[in-house]
Parts: sequence; C-alpha cells; structure tokens
Amino acid sequence: MDFRQAIASALATPTGLPAEELSYWLETPPTPDMGDFAFPCFKLAKTLRKAPPVIAGELALALILPAGVAKAEAAGGYVNFYLDKSAQAKAVLSRVFAEGARYGSSDMGGGRNVCIDYSSVNIAKPFHIGHLPTTVIGSALYRIYNHLGFTSVGINHLGDWGTQFGKMIVAYKLWGDHDTIDRGGVDELVKVYVRYHQEVETNPALDDEARAWFKRIEDGDAEALELFDWFKRITLAEVEEVYDILGIHFDSYAGESFYNDKMGRVVDELREKNLLKLDQGAQIVDLSDYKMPPCIILRSDGATLYATRDIAAALYRKDTYDFAKCLYVVAYQQDLHFRQWFKVVELMGYDWAKDLIHVSFGMVSGTEGAFSTRKGNMVKLRDVLTAACDKTYDIIREKSPDLEDKETIAKQVGIGALIWNSLYNGRIKDVVFDWDSVLNFDGETGPYAQYTHARACSVLRKANYAPADIDFCQLTDSEAAAVIAALGAFPDAVIDAMEKNEPYLVTRAIIAICAAFNKFYYEQRIMADDASVRQARLALTDATRRVIAIGLGLIGIAAPERM
Ligand code: ARG
Repeated sequence: MDFRQAIASALATPTGLPAEELSYWLETPPTPDMGDFAFPCFKLAKTLRKAPPVIAGELALALILPAGVAKAEAAGGYVNFYLDKSAQAKAVLSRVFAEGARYGSSDMGGGRNVCIDYSSVNIAKPFHIGHLPTTVIGSALYRIYNHLGFTSVGINHLGDWGTQFGKMIVAYKLWGDHDTIDRGGVDELVKVYVRYHQEVETNPALDDEARAWFKRIEDGDAEALELFDWFKRITLAEVEEVYDILGIHFDSYAGESFYNDKMGRVVDELREKNLLKLDQGAQIVDLSDYKMPPCIILRSDGATLYATRDIAAALYRKDTYDFAKCLYVVAYQQDLHFRQWFKVVELMGYDWAKDLIHVSFGMVSGTEGAFSTRKGNMVKLRDVLTAACDKTYDIIREKSPDLEDKETIAKQVGIGALIWNSLYNGRIKDVVFDWDSVLNFDGETGPYAQYTHARACSVLRKANYAPADIDFCQLTDSEAAAVIAALGAFPDAVIDAMEKNEPYLVTRAIIAICAAFNKFYYEQRIMADDASVRQARLALTDATRRVIAIGLGLIGIAAPERM
C-alpha cells in the first residue's frame, strides 16, 4: 500500500480537491518527530478565506484516517501525519523483498528513449580529471533513467573535427615517429602537437600546410583519412580502458565528424525559415531579441562550427531515437553555447527544443587550486584511477590484513570513492579533489557506504540468516523506524534525481540509509535473545544491504560483501 496515495485520498473528501494533486502537495517533514508526511495548508487559504492554521485544525478533525496511519495532528499551517510504525515496516520491507533488484524502479518511462550526451572526449587530447564529472554524472543518469523505465541512449559526441587535425598531420609528418606514437599513445601525439605550436611562431607557412591537410581530410583523401583514423584509434583505446575500469558503456560514438554530410540540411532549413543573416561574411542567427550574441552557423570561409554540428546532431537524434529528452552533460563554461543553439532549434519551430537539456556542472580543482595543463598539474584520469586503487590497497592491507582478494576489493573501493566524490554534491558546485577526504572511511564517502553494506552482509553471514516470517511489531523502536523511513524514501529519491537530473539525490538517499542503519546497529542488538526480535532485525538488515547495493549500482559503484 502507498501511504502517500492513501493520505491524499483521505484529504480529497474534506478539501474537495483531486487526490492526485494533493499527493503532489504532501511533503516530508524535516524531522521524524514531526511525522512522516506533512500537508501544507497555505495554498488553500485564499480559496477558503481562512488562516492556514485554522484550516489545518479543521482538516485534522474532519479526516478519516486511512489504514496504517496512526494520527493526524495540526501544527502551524500543516497537518502532520504519523504512520503506524509496524504498518510502515510491513509496507516498506514487503516492497523491498518483493521487488528485489528492481526496488525503486518504475515503468514511468514507458520505454521512451532518453539520449545522454556525456564524457564526449576530444581526439588526440589527454583524458584528464576534468572529464570525471561528465563521465560519472552521465553514466549515473544513464542507469537512473533505465531504472525508471526509460531506455537510455549513451552518446559519446567525440570532438573529432576541426582544423587542429590538419595541424596534427603536419606535425606528425615533420617530427612524429610511428612506433613511438603507437607505443606512447596520446601523450606522444600531444608532444608533436605542442611542438607545432612552438614552430609555427617562426614559421607561419605551417598553417597553410595544415589548412591544406585539413581540406584533404574533408575531401576524403585516403592518406589524410588514414592518419586521422589512426589518431582516433589511439585516443579511443586509452579512453575505453578508463571506461572499462569505470564500468561505463556507450551506445553510440557518433562524434562531430559524423555530421559532415548532415550540415546541408541545417543550413538549408535555416535559410528556408528566414533565420540566416549575413554578418561580416558569416552566416548567423541573430539572437539579440533573446539578449544573446548571435549563433554562428557558417564562417566566412564556409566552414561549419561547433554549434552547427550540435544542431545537426540534435535533428539526427530526434529522427533516429525520437527522444523524450536529450541531455547534454557538459561543464557550465558552455552554458551560453547551449542556450544559443537550443534557442535556434526552437526558432526553427521544433517544439521538442524544450526537451533539450543542458545538465551543467562545476569545475574540479585540486587542494592547490585549478588543475591546468600549463601548470603541469593536469592529472590524467587513468593515473587518478590507478592512484585511487593503490592508495586503497595500502589502507586495506593495514586495516584488514586477512581480507581475501584485496586487489579486487581495493579496485572497487578506490574507484567507488572517486565516483562518489563527483556525485556527493549538487552538480553545479565545484568539486575540490582531495585524496584524504575522498578515501576517508568515516566521513560521508563512498568507502563509508560500501563499508556499511559490507557490515550488513557480515551480520547476515554470521547469523546464518534465512528469510522467514517477520513480526513487524518488533521494528517499531525509533532506530529501526528511522531505517525503515530511509528505505521507504529511496524510490522517491530516485524519481527526484531523474526529474532534476541530479544523481547526488541518490547519493544522499544512500547516506541517509547508512546513517540510520549504523545508529540502529550500535543501539539495538541485532542478535537479540528473542527469536522473533532477532528475525525481524535481521530482515531489516537484509533489506538495508539490498537497497544500499541498488543505490550504489545506480550511481555506478560496486558493493563488495566484504571489506
Ligand atoms: N568535446 C566537447 C568538449 O570537450 C564536449 C562535447 C559536448 N557535447 C556536445 N554535444 N556539444 O568541450
């Protein structure tokens, strides 16, 4: 039974409002002593011409309490509802056990596609720590949408187009060595590219050569394409290694170059719709009515731009996937870019422009300030992952010397800690990267959540737990009730995370469960002498470890059973 719905239905009679709307109004009170649901009466004040506290008092009296609700009490402008603890325990635990790995899932997505453009790396550029947020936020959203019945389509919109590839070819031909680059990967590619930028200062003719090579790529010249594809292969091999470690998947690697033959449509359509304007030789869409600089579609030399390619990609994605939403998980520095071309799509008359969503996020910096390639403190993602695993391995060797398969667990915990660090706060907040707090087992960290899960597993293992009938009256003490409330709040948190595109809401729901469970663990004896108390507490422990594992799974973190 769904208490929210039952309370909303009970409120429908005295208020005369539809239960569906009322259910939307119901809030979760800030502390458990204020009940399990709160109904705010402020919106009713106008139509009823009464003060909210008066309305609350009258409603509390007039209501017929649904089964499982112990009392309704007016407090200020709210009616607070208190659930019957054993009824709540029964409702929550039955759902956890019945739904298994699908707890918190729903079919609200109805199988509709949601495109998620994330990670979207640049060819022949290092894959560094700054790429961690887009990669893990995107993949968490991928899993969350799938859990809610959508079909996620993960897209890596590769940065594989632009004049820099002409420069790369010139640089490679002059100073590159095939085997060195094959062995050294992106680092070696970057080295020759850096040299290009030094040499071009004194030898500007290099740029002419670069332009010529880029033209050859565009014209489909065999040699040019072969080199370009090779750069791509080298970059992707490194990047995919990181994706494997992180357990990340893409359904499409259609990047910027994929849209080469799809640009004509954008330009033609914009022209037909009278949206193009000539400005200093360039074709632009004027956005001054919307207080934005113009969106440049074609440069004066006829070349297309990043925005043009994004518009082409959006049209293609709509045609191919008929998405319900198309998310772009990209740093806030590109805010303007997305606002501009989203507006262009809207001006083209596509009502689905409203389904294009920029999921922006803040910067990653180290404790010493911003990471930058120039300062030489730009940390490669691969190295960060390795360091996280190594450091965790050392900690485990010290704390749990007898643990079997330390290496696998160190990987799961080290990687989990990193992912968690990017998903702990709201997206837009800048993330400070600090090893000590990332790997702290006591703070609200990934290892802490994994440890709580492992602790619950260990309790069950030692108790030789087997599911049996549960006497829910044994779960009404305040510690058990708090765990149940946190488990019960999980499904709504997943939906909230989806609606706001904020995976950290799942992270916070996991923390709430862990905190409540650890308190329960310390203050109530799970292995109580009374068999029915013991069985009920073990069942609660079982439900807890299941929901933590589901939550961790949704944000892309493993849940080892021992640590
Ligand atoms: N490659 C781009 C960058 O590193 C991000 C691409 C984001 N996706 C998009 N459709 N624009 O800045």
